[in-house]
Amino acid sequence: MLSLLVHFRGRDVTLITGARTASELLFKDWLIADSKEHHFKLIFATDDGSYGEKNQVPKVAETVLRNGHFDAIYTCGPEPMMKKIYDLAMEARCHIQVSLERVFKCGVGICAACVIGPYLVCHDGPVFSEAELSGMPEFGHMRRDLSGKKVPLNAALGLLCTLCCLEIISRADCDLGLHTKYLF
Ligand code: FES
Repeated sequence: MLSLLVHFRGRDVTLITGARTASELLFKDWLIADSKEHHFKLIFATDDGSYGEKNQVPKVAETVLRNGHFDAIYTCGPEPMMKKIYDLAMEARCHIQVSLERVFKCGVGICAACVIGPYLVCHDGPVFSEAELSGMPEFGHMRRDLSGKKVPLNAALGLLCTLCCLEIISRADCDLGLHTKYLF
């Protein structure tokens, strides 16, 4: 997102960035300085109102979109938030690009761990536009867990055994018992 910001220098850009609370806002001071130097509009939003607007990013984006015309929206972050932004973009008939996250195992298009709709996020993405997103019924709702099973988007990720590549619940669940396990 930051490289896009640099790429669009000199254009009419509005950046909305949010977090649960002020201490979780990323690059706050750098963004403030850069927005002054390069004259783009910067809006901070926090859930608890500790900095910027007391609201979540989709609500702020809704107001911004209602009051202006935009050629394109670029979004990254939690998928439920991106889904709301996508819905707003579709309502406003605005081009959108979304940066998706999925479990990657091979990272080169072989294992299908990162499949969503007809796409592999590692190979075809991770950035997708509205034409591709419209063919992904799981977008904003479902994902694959570490074993490849389709689960609700908010289901907790388990542990991944780095040798057998299966999702496990605890160290005792690994058949070999000696595997090294990491939070994926
Ligand atoms: S991570 Fe294996 S196909 Fe994408």
